[in-house]
Amino acid sequence: MERKNILAPSILAADFRCLGDEIARVTAAGAEYIHIDVMDGMFVPSISFGMPVITSARKGTDCFFDVHLMVEQPERYIETFVKCGADSVTVHAEATRHLHRTLELIRSCGAGVGVALNPATPLSVLDYVIRDADMVLVMTVDPGFGGQEYIPTMTEKIRALRAWADRIGHPLDIQVDGGINSETLHTVLEAGANVCVMGSAVFCGNRESNVKKYLSIMHEYATY
Ligand code: DX5
Ligand code: ZN
Repeated sequence: MERKNILAPSILAADFRCLGDEIARVTAAGAEYIHIDVMDGMFVPSISFGMPVITSARKGTDCFFDVHLMVEQPERYIETFVKCGADSVTVHAEATRHLHRTLELIRSCGAGVGVALNPATPLSVLDYVIRDADMVLVMTVDPGFGGQEYIPTMTEKIRALRAWADRIGHPLDIQVDGGINSETLHTVLEAGANVCVMGSAVFCGNRESNVKKYLSIMHEYATY
């Protein structure tokens, strides 16, 4: 099944003193998505940023805003984040009581539909909604912080999800998020992930050469 490998730098690791420049640098170097980690201090221990930051960042770029809501009851905010400029909205299956209704709400707002699963959450949670999702985010760390280590048991989860999507003929994007670096990037691409969130691996040192390095690795696994 055709799918494109996409790099999604996570701005959680960016220098917020010059966020617009950070986004411009990584997109100019070839990153197609910007991964935006919204944390509410309830679903995850940290608080990151919200609507004003996204609204402001939207003015400076037309690249794809991939918004990851680490937020309790995210259904309260879908419409607002789409209005702020989100191109896709990913909610955690663990954070909403009515997942099917929440996914339909994202769809009705005209955004891409994403579902995120924490490391301990089984794929079976998606049994009756996988076809409603454009993208499934397999968390490869426990959410809430950048710079953590990749959880190796997630490799099999990625592989099983890709096999399932192929088996039912569903053109699913599989996103991975947390601890992705030049080593684990090979692992997750080989297992079937195709949207790779990278925070600290991109926003440290030379942003441009980091992006170019990871894009060339991703092209080695190109499936389109
Ligand atoms: C963690 C966030 C990740 C994080 C990735 O809860 O969802 O997107 O920013 O950071 P790195 O790539 O540094 O592990
Ligand atoms: Zn994220």
